[in-house]
Amino acid sequence: MDAVMASDKNGAGAVLAPSWVRHGRLIAWVAEIAALTKPDHVHWCDGSQEEYDAMCAGLVAAGTMTRLNPARRPNSFLALSDPSDVARVEDRTFICSEREEDAGPTNNWVAPAQMRDTLHGLFDGCMRGRTLYVVPFSMGPLGSHIAQIGIELSDSAYVAVNMRIMTRMGKAVHEVLGSSGDFVPCVHSVGLPLAAGQKDVAWPCSATKYIVHYPESREIWSYGSGYGGNALLGKKCFALRIASTMGRDQGWLAEHMLILGVENPQGKKHYVAAAFPSACGKTNFAMLIPPTGFTGWKVTTIGDDIAWIKPGPDGRLYAINPEAGYFGVAPGTSEKTNFNAMATLRENVIFTNVALTDDGDIWWEGMTKEAPAHLIDWQGKDWTPALGKESGRKAAHPNARFTAPASQCPSIDPAWENPAGVPISAFIFGGRRSTTVPLVTHARSWTEGVYMAATMGSETTAAAAGEQGVVRRDPFAMLPFCGYNMSDYFAHWLNVGRRLETTGQKLPGIFCVNWFRTDEQGKFVWPGFGENMRVLKWILERVDGQAGGEDHLFGTTPRYDDMSWEGSSFGRSEFARIASIDIASWKNELVLHNELFTKLQYHLPVELSMVKDQIEKNLH
Ligand code: GTP
Ligand code: SPV
Ligand code: MN
Repeated sequence: MDAVMASDKNGAGAVLAPSWVRHGRLIAWVAEIAALTKPDHVHWCDGSQEEYDAMCAGLVAAGTMTRLNPARRPNSFLALSDPSDVARVEDRTFICSEREEDAGPTNNWVAPAQMRDTLHGLFDGCMRGRTLYVVPFSMGPLGSHIAQIGIELSDSAYVAVNMRIMTRMGKAVHEVLGSSGDFVPCVHSVGLPLAAGQKDVAWPCSATKYIVHYPESREIWSYGSGYGGNALLGKKCFALRIASTMGRDQGWLAEHMLILGVENPQGKKHYVAAAFPSACGKTNFAMLIPPTGFTGWKVTTIGDDIAWIKPGPDGRLYAINPEAGYFGVAPGTSEKTNFNAMATLRENVIFTNVALTDDGDIWWEGMTKEAPAHLIDWQGKDWTPALGKESGRKAAHPNARFTAPASQCPSIDPAWENPAGVPISAFIFGGRRSTTVPLVTHARSWTEGVYMAATMGSETTAAAAGEQGVVRRDPFAMLPFCGYNMSDYFAHWLNVGRRLETTGQKLPGIFCVNWFRTDEQGKFVWPGFGENMRVLKWILERVDGQAGGEDHLFGTTPRYDDMSWEGSSFGRSEFARIASIDIASWKNELVLHNELFTKLQYHLPVELSMVKDQIEKNLH
């Protein structure tokens, strides 16, 4: 429903809500934000197909999106962003808790009152000439006891259509909300108001960006970017940063984790959750297809990016995927590396910042061995393999992404929408490390596992603006996503473990993996992708107490013969290259652990320092 902004006698904006919105506080809040931001229209999204189609048609007319060739890619679109707005902006992301120490040293912090002042100034009139979309969404299956509701007010139709794929979005959310239900208010603007008669640009955004979270009042305000996690506020802002603070307060976990199921040939099924930093392989691992030699093994997908994990009454941890779609990295995705993702992308997809082929389809680096002879690149310019080689220009941006419905994934697990979640047998943590970190390590205790996850390092990727390929500590792959003090977060993980232990249940195993060790030429030694099944199998056998290994400085690692190599030509000498633990490198690594612990001194759990002391002893 569209409503033209009306003004009451006092000049404050009034909004007309459709009859299916019965929530007085929500209507008043929309009116308040509309009065501040001054859009030309307010549109209450109902989530219908007709509405989606109309919004997409509008985006095509505005030049934001191109409709792809329906014969090649039915009901799909390509959006090209402004070259300055291509990834999350971590240095513009703020956790505005009342106390600075509750945001902690890994987050940007500004006092809430001061930030509210700044944002009030920026949002005043920022939607002039635009439509304010009221986007109701549920993270988790609609109406289930684990789901959380958010309302995003955004002046971007691109955001609204993406939210319809990524979340359960629409009228039904209002039914669940009723007249007084709780919701997380999310306000988003691209930050480019239009004067009367001013022509819009294809991808509106602003050089000024703020991605702001108020953890105590559970509010999100985002300004200046239309891209990904900066703008689709249900994802990182809500389902990780705000949800992690809910989890801290209520005894559960919100994690940057995929969830997958593995069934062995005997029909025994395990679920595992794995945290890898952005663009480090979650989507790929979640949709893994076992290689030859693994007849009878089956991997199924619950989620590819975010897990909400809660202790069940039986003392086990149960995980759900709060999302309904994948916002996945396009480059590197191919029939060979991720067949299931490619099948998910056959129709009903929004592609952002990939290249356009001459027959109206899409392409990106790594999709096929040979690039097409001619493309329009992600900046709308002509691209040929020769031009690319000459200039070093990529056809697709390295952080180009697809937005696709999870229901279209061939490997989707039958339980993926089960509100009870799936029981987790193992947690896997993995970084992108060209050196030092071995293929896989099994922590000998929960505490040792928490230490390994807490001190994990990874080379930075194109998923965030800034320098790429530099090793930084990325605890639990949550550095950009933890909504509170990182040391308190470690303590929370230790507490969850202690609480589960008292039930007498076996805790999930904790493992660290690294698919990314390179040789002297900089080539990955480990073939990765489907071959990661070999590591997954060893992990599950460890959980079941079957597989062997040898103890190390910390944890247990497999010897070559402890893993299955059927159908593989990966030999002992290659294995030695990615499994080796070099004492000199680990002495350097411990220097970095020390730096992290110095930074995180405040509230750092003493158990973690004790693990570090033990490793340091083992190194001498
Ligand atoms: P976010 O959506 O940013 O959180 O990322 P993600 O962790 O889901 O990353 P994704 O699975 O999309 O992988 C990103 C990049 O890593 C792609 O270019 C992949 O081709 C590459 N990649 C994934 N798995 C492997 C692997 O096993 N080996 C190697 N060498 N590369 C991999
Ligand atoms: C990530 O960067 O980890 C993503 C993409 O999953 S975004 O939604 O943009 O954060
Ligand atoms: Mn992610």
